[in-house]
Amino acid sequence: MKASTVAFAASAIVTAVATDVSIVRPNEPFLPNNALPPSHATSDGASIVKLFPNLGRSTTWKLISKTNFEGDTGEPEGMVRVSDDRYFISAGQWTVPTTKYPQPINGTDRTPGAGFAHTLIYDGQGKLIANATLTKPGDIEYHTGGIDYDGRYLWATLSQYRPNSTATIVQIDPLTLQKKDMFRTNDHNGGIVHDTITGDLVTLNWGGRNATTWSLKDYPHGFTPLPGFKAPKSSVPDPSFFIDYQDCKFLGHYALPEAMAARVSDQGSKRPIMFCGGVATIGSSFHLGGIALVDLQTMLPLWEVPIAMTSDLGASVTQNPIDIAVVDGKLRIYCLPDQHNSTLYVYEAA
Ligand SMILES: *[C@@H]1O[C@H](CO)[C@@H](O)[C@H](O)[C@H]1NC(C)=O
Ligand SMILES: *[C@@H]1O[C@H](CO)[C@@H](O)[C@H](O)[C@H]1NC(C)=O
Ligand SMILES: *[C@@H]1O[C@H](CO)[C@@H](O)[C@H](O)[C@H]1NC(C)=O
Ligand SMILES: *[C@@H]1O[C@H](CO)[C@@H](O)[C@H](O)[C@H]1NC(C)=O
Ligand SMILES: *[C@@H]1O[C@H](CO)[C@@H](O)[C@H](O)[C@H]1NC(C)=O
Repeated sequence: MKASTVAFAASAIVTAVATDVSIVRPNEPFLPNNALPPSHATSDGASIVKLFPNLGRSTTWKLISKTNFEGDTGEPEGMVRVSDDRYFISAGQWTVPTTKYPQPINGTDRTPGAGFAHTLIYDGQGKLIANATLTKPGDIEYHTGGIDYDGRYLWATLSQYRPNSTATIVQIDPLTLQKKDMFRTNDHNGGIVHDTITGDLVTLNWGGRNATTWSLKDYPHGFTPLPGFKAPKSSVPDPSFFIDYQDCKFLGHYALPEAMAARVSDQGSKRPIMFCGGVATIGSSFHLGGIALVDLQTMLPLWEVPIAMTSDLGASVTQNPIDIAVVDGKLRIYCLPDQHNSTLYVYEAA
């Protein structure tokens, strides 16, 4: 595989840092026809919310396809499927493992370790199109998590790879893979979604236990210049212990379908909804997979569905990147569970 490295010039914006992008297939555009596809909120979000209450424990998930993604993917963490032929993956490359402290130091429980955060673009056949390196050697915030796409930008977090640490929230342009450092937060953050209706960003911390909300409305007004920390607008604990959300997508604001509405007090009003996948690790070896629709303002789970499928390499299919779509009136989930040698599993709810 021949790779040519293109370093884009930093823009005039102080917070924009040139990202190293290794272009593996120069004749393939990053996006089909170089056009920005719609987000879930402006395409299939409403259909996803409508169909989701049909899912339950007894749902039969039919395997539609298995596609091996070429190259060493490291640890895939988040995925945005923008068409059948383009997948954006956030992936971690770990070069020095973290080691547990005997007891917490400065609020965290392990050494920083070392590594790099990547954004990978794949086509529908699993061919690698580009591999961006978002961090520099020695950067302590090298862990990337779940990602979201809002119709213009990808949203990601770059965090220290340890709980209760720090993170930088970044915006990535899918047309160039250039990232912009937006602001920093005094906690580890993994998953992220952009509510394009309110202009809020919601980020999930270690294990998805807390959701914090930031308003981008006046950005950059009111934001502490980097590397200072910005305090969130609000923070709520996740009241559900079903799974730890790993990768989430903003779907839009909707009146809840009847089956879900029974779960909330202000029935009838529109709620901001995200789709999430993840796992719960119980004890050291039991992994429960699952997917959910979640109210991203309150973190109340609106509909939760356990997922039992595992990859050919034995991983719960929902443990890492996930996306969702409605194809010919049926719900499909797209999962990329395995580290290093990753296969995209596509399932349809029968
Ligand atoms: C992306 O590049 C890094 C080196 O910067 C490499 O370790 C990794 O394997 C590459 N990813 C893929 C999928 O080739
Ligand atoms: C803990 O924090 C203090 C004060 O910021 C710093 O001097 C020290 O190096 C930190 N310790 C570790 C192990 O990171
Ligand atoms: C996070 O770290 C701070 C010190 O830096 C500590 O006061 C706080 O208790 C820690 N929080 C958690 C949830 O561990
Ligand atoms: C969650 O956030 C609250 C503040 O809203 C904080 O007191 C608590 O320690 C956080 N929990 C974790 C696990 O970070
Ligand atoms: C990659 O994983 C698949 C199973 O998902 C396996 O069939 C294949 O042999 C693996 N390839 C390598 C190079 O390990």
